[in-house]
Amino acid sequence: MALSLQPLFLAITFLLMASLIGSSEAVRISTYWGQDATEGSLKELCTEGTVRYVKAPVQYVNIAFLRNIGGGRTPELSLRHCNSTTCPLLSSEIELCQSLGIQVLISLAGAPNLSSTAEAYEVASYIWDNFLGGSSSSRPLGEAVLNGVDYHIHSGKPDYLDDLARALSGYNTPENKQVYLAAGPECLLPDRWLDASIRTGLFDYVWVEFFDNPTCQYTPDNLIALFQSWNEWASYPGVNALFLGIPVSPEVAPDGGYIPYEVLVSVVLPFVETYVNFGGIMLWPYRHHHPHPHYSEKFRVQSYAAI
Ligand SMILES: *[C@@H]1O[C@H](CO)[C@@H](O)[C@H](O)[C@H]1NC(C)=O
Ligand SMILES: *[C@@H]1O[C@H](CO)[C@@H](O)[C@H](O)[C@H]1NC(C)=O
Repeated sequence: MALSLQPLFLAITFLLMASLIGSSEAVRISTYWGQDATEGSLKELCTEGTVRYVKAPVQYVNIAFLRNIGGGRTPELSLRHCNSTTCPLLSSEIELCQSLGIQVLISLAGAPNLSSTAEAYEVASYIWDNFLGGSSSSRPLGEAVLNGVDYHIHSGKPDYLDDLARALSGYNTPENKQVYLAAGPECLLPDRWLDASIRTGLFDYVWVEFFDNPTCQYTPDNLIALFQSWNEWASYPGVNALFLGIPVSPEVAPDGGYIPYEVLVSVVLPFVETYVNFGGIMLWPYRHHHPHPHYSEKFRVQSYAAI
């Protein structure tokens, strides 16, 4: 029987919030959805926590992923929950999430291959028309208007991704913010793919992956590498709101960075929360190079939820 990730998210969220409510504001949580057919529905991710636990446990959901950016290709939606590159039935679930105050972003991944500023503006226009406030007869997620775009780009050509961000944010007006931008770099600075983009200052959220990178992640009994890296990121140009990106279990981060729950709430959160641009936590649910992990009972026992 396949195990759903959903209970994990809910339990983690509940534990995080329960520990923080009363003492300070609840931690804002971001996560990804779309790459594991057993993770539960988007609706479940957005609603069950709200009903059963605390209000709005997840504030940001990144739909994973939109691939084929640039190189003359049409961007392609790739979700494990659909058998095709369109999934218009998700529209009502996206709108439901938004009605609960959750921002839903489309997450770009795969190897981008942009060759010019003009091509970056064309791709921005495609994303605007097909996922955001524009219009098209072939919107892959139907009529729902997503809140913005996340860059989960760890391969391909970094060129012109900053122009793509400029083009996307060009749809905003002072009265009407229609495109939020988020970036999910690895923790090593400067990030090979996203550095120029982050430096534009246009990104609302930067959820740094503090895992699978021994020089800038938590290791048992050593907080220095993580805290130093956090400190550098917090003062890095363009980082408006910094999120602590952590794996939901040791299993999804084979090269380390998983933080045991009691360390997270007693040591790590009190430290990162002292920064003015602390934005929240990003819970990373997938194994990077193995998009279809088998979430075993062992995984559950090791996860935050069991603590
Ligand atoms: C990138 O796109 C250009 C055309 O825009 C193409 O010539 C080139 O082969 C592409 N590179 C890769 C690695 O796909
Ligand atoms: C995808 O296709 C498989 C096999 O045809 C089917 O069992 C499954 O229900 C389909 N899933 C969706 C989300 O359409």
